[in-house]
Amino acid sequence: MCGIFGYVNYKTPKKRQEIIQILLNGLQRLEYRGYDSAGLAYDGEDEEIPIVVREVGTVACLEKAVYAELESKPLSVRERVFNSHVGIAHTRWATHGAPSIKNSHPHSSDPTHEFLVVHNGIITNYNPLKAMLVSKGYVFETETDTEVVAKLLKYFHDTIREDGEPPTFARLMMYVVHAIEGAFALLVKSRHYPNELVASKRGSPLVIGIKSETTFDKETFEVEASAPLLPDSDSRDFLLENGRLSNDVASLEYHHPSINDNNSTSTFFSSFSRPSKGLRFVLRKEAAKKMEFFFSSDPSAIIEHTNKVFYPEDNDVVYVKDGDMEVFCYSNEDPSIARNRLLSTIDLELEEIMKGRFEHFMLKEIYEQPESVQQTMRGRIHQLSNGQYEVQLGGIRDRFYDILRSNRMVFVACGTSYHACLACRQIIEELTELPVSVELASDFLDRRCPIFRSDVCIFVSQSGETAETLEALRYAKSHNALTVGVVNVVGSSIARLTDCGVHINAGCEIGVASTKVYTSQIVVLVMIALQLSADFRSKLRRREEIFQALISLPSKIETTLHLDSQMKKIASSLESRSSILLFGRGYQYATCLEAALKIKEVSYMHTEGIHAGELKHGPLALVDQDMPVILFVTRDSTARKVQNALQQVIARGGFRSMIVVCTEKDEETKSLKDKVELVQVPETVDCLQNLLNIIPFQLLSYHLAVQRGHNVDQPRNLAKSVTVE
Ligand code: F6R
Repeated sequence: MCGIFGYVNYKTPKKRQEIIQILLNGLQRLEYRGYDSAGLAYDGEDEEIPIVVREVGTVACLEKAVYAELESKPLSVRERVFNSHVGIAHTRWATHGAPSIKNSHPHSSDPTHEFLVVHNGIITNYNPLKAMLVSKGYVFETETDTEVVAKLLKYFHDTIREDGEPPTFARLMMYVVHAIEGAFALLVKSRHYPNELVASKRGSPLVIGIKSETTFDKETFEVEASAPLLPDSDSRDFLLENGRLSNDVASLEYHHPSINDNNSTSTFFSSFSRPSKGLRFVLRKEAAKKMEFFFSSDPSAIIEHTNKVFYPEDNDVVYVKDGDMEVFCYSNEDPSIARNRLLSTIDLELEEIMKGRFEHFMLKEIYEQPESVQQTMRGRIHQLSNGQYEVQLGGIRDRFYDILRSNRMVFVACGTSYHACLACRQIIEELTELPVSVELASDFLDRRCPIFRSDVCIFVSQSGETAETLEALRYAKSHNALTVGVVNVVGSSIARLTDCGVHINAGCEIGVASTKVYTSQIVVLVMIALQLSADFRSKLRRREEIFQALISLPSKIETTLHLDSQMKKIASSLESRSSILLFGRGYQYATCLEAALKIKEVSYMHTEGIHAGELKHGPLALVDQDMPVILFVTRDSTARKVQNALQQVIARGGFRSMIVVCTEKDEETKSLKDKVELVQVPETVDCLQNLLNIIPFQLLSYHLAVQRGHNVDQPRNLAKSVTVE
C-alpha cells in the first residue's frame, strides 16, 4: 500500500535535478507498493513556496510531469545547487478517496504549503479531527484521511505556544502523533522549519538510511533519558480545551476494529497514551561533515545509497536538522539496552532489485527459485559424523522446548503465505505430533480465536508488515502465547515484535505476485518441523528421506523450470477461456489454492482451487467438456482417491480440456497422454512435491497475464505490502 520516500542532504551540494532524480528513483523502487498515482515536493526558487507535483498513474507519468514543470524554468533555476535541502515523495495505492491528482500526496496544510505531508497507512479518527478543523475555518480540498495531518500541524503550529513561541518541529510532530489514531508512517516538510524533516510511524513500515563521510556505528549515538517528551498539557488536552472537541465531536464513536478494544468501538482517542518516560537518541555529525538521510517504506529504495539504516519503533518521532538526527522515543527502556536498536546494516545487493535480463520481476523471481531455495537452506542443514542430517535454525533454538511443550501450534497468515502454511500442515503434524491449525489472519481476528499461554502462534509473512497478520500477532501477544515469526523482510514489524523466529532468506521479492518466497516459506516450515522432531527416534527414517529431498531440491527446481515452453503453449490454449478449475487433495490442496490465486491475480481470469474430495459434493456440476480442469495426481497416500476424481471428471466428458499434473515416474497416469494434456514434474518426497508442482503454474499464470496484455508486476488493484486492513 503506498510507498513514502524522503531525502535530506546536509553540506552535500546537489543540483535541483539531482535531488529530483533521487526522489524519483526512490519512488521507482517503491512503486510495487502502490501505483495509481504519485507525487513529490521540493524547494521552490524563492524558498518560500515549495514546488509540489502530483500525477495520476505510474511514477513514469509523474516523472514526465516533474520534468515538464522543470523545463519551464530558466537554466539558472534548473541548475541551482542546494547545500542542504529536504524533499519528500509518495507513490499511492488509494484507500480513502479515488486515485486523482487532488487526492495524491504530498498533502498540504494550505495553498502556500506551510506543511506538506506524505503518509502510508490510515488515520482512523480523521472524521472527528476534520470536523473540529472545519469548525475552526479550515477548508479541506481532498477526500483523504491524510489531509487532516497537514491541517492539524498548521493548527497546532498556529495555536500552541511554548515559552511564547510555536513548538519546535519535533515537538509539533509529537503533538500530532499524540492526537491521531490508526496506522501511519509520515514524513513532513515545512516552510516554517526550512531544511528540517520530521517523521514518525505507528504500525506502518519506515526505515532511515544514513550516509556520512565519516564511518560511524551505534556508539556514535548519544542516548539520554528525557521525560516527559510532551508538556503537561498534551495535544489531547489541548484539543479538548481549545479545539472545542468536548462540545461537538469528542464523544463521537467510530468503528475501530482494534483488538485491544472489546466492543470494537472506541472513543475519540483510544490506544496511545503518553508514557511517563522517554528516550532521546542523537546521531551527531562531526562539525562540517557531510550527511545524507534517506527515509523510505522499505530498504530497497535505500540500498543504492547506503547500507547503514535505522528502524524507528512505533510512535518514535525522528527529527533531522543540520546533519543531526534525533529520535524521541516513548519508551521505558533502559538507555543502554535501547542503544542496541540503533543501527543496522542491510544485507541486500542492488542487482537483487533490478530486473536484469528478464522482462518482468515475476519471471525473474520464478527463475531465481533454485538459488532462493538454496539460500533459505544455506548454513542451516548439517551432516553429522554418523552420516545423519540435522537442521539448526538459530532464531528458534532458545525456544525449542517451549514450542515442543506447547499444546498446539497456530499458524496465522494471509494470501500466499497462508497457502504455504496449509501446504505444510500435514508434515508439521506428522513430525511434531502436535495439533496444528492454520488461520487466515482476518478470520482469526474476526472470530477472536481463543488463544492461551500454552499455544505457540506462528506468523508467516513475506513483507512482515501485513496489517491483519500484525494485528493478529498483537492479539496473540496480549493472550501471552509464545509468538514466532517466519518473515522474509529483515527488520520488519513482525520480525521485531515476535518472541523468536526464522528469516526466510529468499532475497528481495518485488513482483506483486509472490513466487520465490512461497517456495522458500515451504522450505522454512518443513525445516522447522525437522528441527522440532530431532529427538524423535521413531521418525528417523522419515526425516532422512526429507533431508535427502531438500538437498536435491534446487536441481529438481531447475529441471521443473524446463516446463516453461509447455506452459506457454498451454497458456495460449487457455487465454480466452472464462474460468479454470483446479482439483487436488492432501499436499496438493494448497497447490490448487495457490495456483488459482496466481492465475487470478495476474491474468484476472476466474480460477478456483477445489479440494478433490469435494468434487461430488457440488463442484462436479461445473464440469463439462468445455470447462478447463487441472488435476494434480499424486503418488502418496491420497493416490487412489485422486484417481477416482480423475475418473469422475473423465466420465463427465471433462477430459477434452483437461490438464493432468503427475510425476515423471507415474507410468499409470502417463498412459493417459493421448487423452489429456500431461504436465510431468520431477518426483520428490510427498511433503515437497507441492513445492515443485506449483512452479509450472507460476509460469502458466505469468504467460496468461502477458498474453492477455496485463501488467504482470503491477496487477490492477493490488499492492505488494498490504499495510492497512
Ligand atoms: C499473492 C500475494 C499475497 C500475499 C499476502 C500476504 O501473490 O503475494 O496474497 O501473500 O498479501 O502478504 P505477506 O506475505 O507479505 O504477509
